[in-house]
Amino acid sequence: IRDDAANVGEYIGNYIAKRINKFKPTAEKPFVLGLPTGSSPIPTYKHLIKLVKAGQLSFKHVVTFNMDEYVQLPQDHPESYHTFMFREFFSQVDIPPSQVNILNGNAKDLIGECNAYEAKIKAIGGIELFLGGIGEDGHIAFNEPGSSLASRTRIKTLAYDTILANARFFNNDIAAVPRMALTVGVATVLDSREVVVVVSGQRKALALSKAIEEGVNHLWTLSALQLHPWALIVVDEDATAEL
Ligand code: GLP
Repeated sequence: IRDDAANVGEYIGNYIAKRINKFKPTAEKPFVLGLPTGSSPIPTYKHLIKLVKAGQLSFKHVVTFNMDEYVQLPQDHPESYHTFMFREFFSQVDIPPSQVNILNGNAKDLIGECNAYEAKIKAIGGIELFLGGIGEDGHIAFNEPGSSLASRTRIKTLAYDTILANARFFNNDIAAVPRMALTVGVATVLDSREVVVVVSGQRKALALSKAIEEGVNHLWTLSALQLHPWALIVVDEDATAEL
């Protein structure tokens, strides 16, 4: 627990930097990092950018896999997760764009796209550290309530609560929010060797308490982390309101 969102970002940024630097990634053996979108990870991205600019961290030998992407939102739309990631992070660090992996929500064959994503993660040797965020309904990536805890990368219809929550990014126009997304599955997240989740704000307080104080439950998919041997949830004071 940290005081506020900025301190959460600084803590996670330093934590990830330490893990990457200790790993000593090379071209042959890159560090494989899973990444989320949303407002919660922005302070973490800001801190990572600061460390890169200060010469204390490099993404030259880091390969990334993003958690999710909307279906049928043009890739260059300001709210696509492609645009978000390049705007908030990738364009400001030294990662070669060829090492960035983000699901293509405009692929002709969406199921093929999801299967290829899983295969690519497997081929590279799995994800070392998956950074995640959560929705107000406790979803991790876009694994909405009811998702199988054994789920893999797939197409998911968004819960109405998520559409409402994300309307703030689409000028509060509910009709403009995509109805579907491609998302890594709960099992894809659990397969990574380490999971770090950022939770900030009182809006997430109920989900946090359900996920860590109640049992493993597919209605609050974050709770699946109870099954993971190396999971860390970093939260601000506001998010602890229900604990
Ligand atoms: C979307 C993403 C999630 C993310 C969530 C939280 O639903 N698919 O991966 O965790 O937003 O967003 P925020 O941090 O803005 O509350």
